Amino acid sequence: MTATPLLNAPGEARGLAIDFEHVNHSFIHGDRAVRVLDDFNLNIEPSQFVSIVGPSGCGKTTALSMTGGLLRAREGSVRLDGREVTSTSADVAFLFARDALMPWRRVRSNVELGLEVRGVPKAERRERATAWLRRVRLHEFAESDVLHLSQGMRQRVAIARTLAQSPRVVLMDEPFAALDAQTRALQQEEFIRLWEAERPTVIFVTHDLEEAILLSDRVILMASRPGRIVADMTIDLERPRTQEMRSSERFRELVVSLYDQLRHEVDVAEARRQESGGDDD
Ligand SMILES: Nc1ncnc2c1ncn2[C@@H]1O[C@H](COP(=O)(O)OP(=O)(O)O)[C@@H](O)[C@H]1O
Ligand SMILES: [Mg+2]
Repeated sequence: MTATPLLNAPGEARGLAIDFEHVNHSFIHGDRAVRVLDDFNLNIEPSQFVSIVGPSGCGKTTALSMTGGLLRAREGSVRLDGREVTSTSADVAFLFARDALMPWRRVRSNVELGLEVRGVPKAERRERATAWLRRVRLHEFAESDVLHLSQGMRQRVAIARTLAQSPRVVLMDEPFAALDAQTRALQQEEFIRLWEAERPTVIFVTHDLEEAILLSDRVILMASRPGRIVADMTIDLERPRTQEMRSSERFRELVVSLYDQLRHEVDVAEARRQESGGDDD
């Protein structure tokens, strides 16, 4: 790989602030309420790129769903630029591990989908979809069947579909988890470059600590049962970020520090499980 920066000068930042204030949430399992988020507080500045890492079941997807208006907190508030989230919004777009493309629609038509749902006129839809397909280097496949694409290409279609909506907030739930290591590295670079263009605020959920550090301004570490924030780490690596930065001394320090905190949390959770006689479910 070359040492070329991944991006050009940043464009206009148009992200929204996201604020969780004293959020508590429980799900009902049979006859018990299981506390999922416990006094969850998080303030994200407009256009910040924030990753959330933490063990399975700690409430990451729950927090994303609340931000996107798919789920309402039982207590506390979630606000976008000061306004309480009560429903889904055209400002907020999602990207998941499984690309959720419509197999019966061609590539371009999949990219247009989000715009179609929002009532964007056909000519504009087409223009925006074409421009985004070019940005993800898939314009030659505009009329292809999505079934004929590789997993990595499919995820680029999904990225184009998400960003074509010009969202001011992007919520990503392990978006690259289904990709092989090389494809994943390329997509990380590509996504970061695309993100720089309009700088939506991003919440990025991942299991991959290095991915979190490479992409983010800030990494939030959550612990489970109940889900809460146990570390909030500022990533002071310069931008534009490159894959080459992984070998820098500062990057390695950040990885070690995050692993230490994670290990500590795992130990604490394990000790608690022993105390409660292993009955933690
Ligand atoms: N719709 C639901 N109904 C009941 N329990 C749920 C629901 N969604 C999530 N949970 C539970 O809440 C906890 C947190 O889930 P989730 O937010 O998906 O965690 P994560 O994304 O960190 O793996 C888990 O114990 C999960 O089983
Ligand atoms: Mg999840």
